[in-house]
Amino acid sequence: AKRTDVGLLVGAVDQGTSSTRFLVFDSKTAELLCHHQVEIKQEFPKEGWVEENPKEILLSVYECIDKACEKLQRFNVDLSNVKAIGITNQRETTVVWDRVTGEPLYNAVVWLDLRTQSTVENLSKKIPVNNNFVKTKTGLPLSTYFSAVKLRWLLDNVESVQKAVKEGRALFGTVDSWLIWNLTGGAEGGVHCTDVTNASRTMLFNIHSLKWDRELCEFFQIPMNILPNVRSCSEIYGLMKAGALEGVPISGCLGDQSAALVGQMCFQDGQAKNTYGTGCFLLCNTGRKCVFSEHGLLTTVGYKLGRNKPVCYALEGSVAIAGALVRWLRDNLGIISSSEEIEKLAREVGTSYGCYFIPAFSGLYAPYWDPSARGIICGLTQFTNKCHLAFAALEAVCFQTREILDAMNRDCGIPLSHLQVDGGMTNNKVLMQLQADILCIPVVKPTMPEITALGAAMAAGAAEGVGVWSLDPEDLSAFIEERFEPQINAEESEVRYSIWKKAVTKSMGWVT
Ligand code: G3P
Repeated sequence: AKRTDVGLLVGAVDQGTSSTRFLVFDSKTAELLCHHQVEIKQEFPKEGWVEENPKEILLSVYECIDKACEKLQRFNVDLSNVKAIGITNQRETTVVWDRVTGEPLYNAVVWLDLRTQSTVENLSKKIPVNNNFVKTKTGLPLSTYFSAVKLRWLLDNVESVQKAVKEGRALFGTVDSWLIWNLTGGAEGGVHCTDVTNASRTMLFNIHSLKWDRELCEFFQIPMNILPNVRSCSEIYGLMKAGALEGVPISGCLGDQSAALVGQMCFQDGQAKNTYGTGCFLLCNTGRKCVFSEHGLLTTVGYKLGRNKPVCYALEGSVAIAGALVRWLRDNLGIISSSEEIEKLAREVGTSYGCYFIPAFSGLYAPYWDPSARGIICGLTQFTNKCHLAFAALEAVCFQTREILDAMNRDCGIPLSHLQVDGGMTNNKVLMQLQADILCIPVVKPTMPEITALGAAMAAGAAEGVGVWSLDPEDLSAFIEERFEPQINAEESEVRYSIWKKAVTKSMGWVT
C-alpha cells in the first residue's frame, strides 16, 4: 500500500568536497525520508594541488538521485510527490567547460588547492596600499581560496580553456552552476546561472551591488561573457531534464555554508552556526549590514531567499581542514579504517597527552590567512600512540573553532552564549564534548545532522511558483536538539588553548 502519511516532498543535492548526497524531506514536518551518499575521489597531482573530476561529480549526483528515488519507491511513495529540488555545494571550486560539447576543459580546481600562491603574490603587489578595493568590494582577502585566481590559472595554463574562450564556447562556474547547467539540459539548452552566495565566493562579485564587478574582472583579467547569471537563492532556475525526477523544478541554490545558516534557522541578526564538514565554517548572520572584520573573518552573502527578498550578510570564520584531517588519518596514515573509528580511539585515552596537531595542509585560513603555513605535529614522546594522535586531531578541530569564535566575539561585541553546530562530524560525541570544554560554552546540535541539505530544501520548497515550504521556524519546533555542557574548568581550557596557540606559531612561515 502507498504511504499516505507523507506530504509534499522536496529533494536536496548536497555536493560537498568529500561526498555527494541526495536527500528527500517532507515539507510539512522537515522529516528526512531517505537519502543516498557517494564519496568523491580527490586527486593530488602535485604537492599542494587538489582536483576533482567534474564528470564524476555530475555522475555522483545522478547516482544519488536515482538511488534515493528507488528507496522512495520501495516505501511506496509516489515520485510525483517531489515538488522541487534544491542544490547546495562546496563553494569556490572552479569548473570551466565547453558549452557546445558539454565537456569540462580541465579538472575542477578545488577550494583547498594552493597552486595559485604565486598568482596571489603577484596580484597583491598591484593593490594600492591605501585602497584595498578587492576586500572592500568582495569582503574577501586576496587568497588562493577563492575562484578568481583559480580561473586566472586555468586561463593562463590550459590551452583548451584559452581556445574555448577565444571561440566563445567556454563557460565558467562553481559546482552549483556546473550541476544546474547539466541537470537542466546541458548542451541542449542548459541554464547557466549561479546564486548570490556562490557568486560572493568568486572574488569577482560586488557584494554591495550584487553584480559581477567590471573593475574586479579587469583586475583578474577575466572575460565577463563566461560568467553565469546571478540569481537569488530561492526561485525556479529550470526544470530537471531527465531521470526519475524529470520535469521537477530546481528552485533552491546556496553555497553549503549559507544553506546550513538557513537550515539552522539563523534568520536573526547575531545568530550563528558552525558546520563541521571537510573544513569547518562558523557563520554569523549580520542582517542587512555588511560588517567588515578586524580579526581575520570574511564578509559574505548569507542568503537572499527570493528575487524580491532582501539580502542578508554574514561574517564567516573559515577553517580549511576539519573532517579532511580524519580522512587524512584514514587514507594517508591508515591509523583508522573508517572515519567513525576516530571516536573510539580518542575515547580510549581521553587526552592527547601533550600532543598538538596543526593541520595547516592548505596553509592557515581564518584568522591567520597564512598560505605559507604547513601542518605540524608536536609534543611527541615515546609514550605517544595512535589514540593520542586521534585525540589531538579532534582537539585541533575544536581549537580552530575556538580561534574563529574568539574573532567573531571580538568583531560582534556580544559573545555567543552557546554554539549551534551541524555537519557529519557532529555525530562524534567525543568531539562535541571536547568542543564545549574548549569553548567554555554549551554546544547545541540538532539530532538530524543534515542541516545543509535541509536549508537547500527549504529554499527550494519556499520558492515562488513552488510554495510548499513556509520557512517559518515554528514549523521545525519538533526538531530535537542535543546539548553538550562544558565539563572542565575555564583555567584548564585556557592552558591547553595557549599551548595550541604556541604550536600554531611553529607552523607559520614554513614555506618561503
Ligand atoms: O568553502 C568551502 C566549503 O564550502 C566546503 O564545504 O562541506 O565540503 O566542508 P565542505
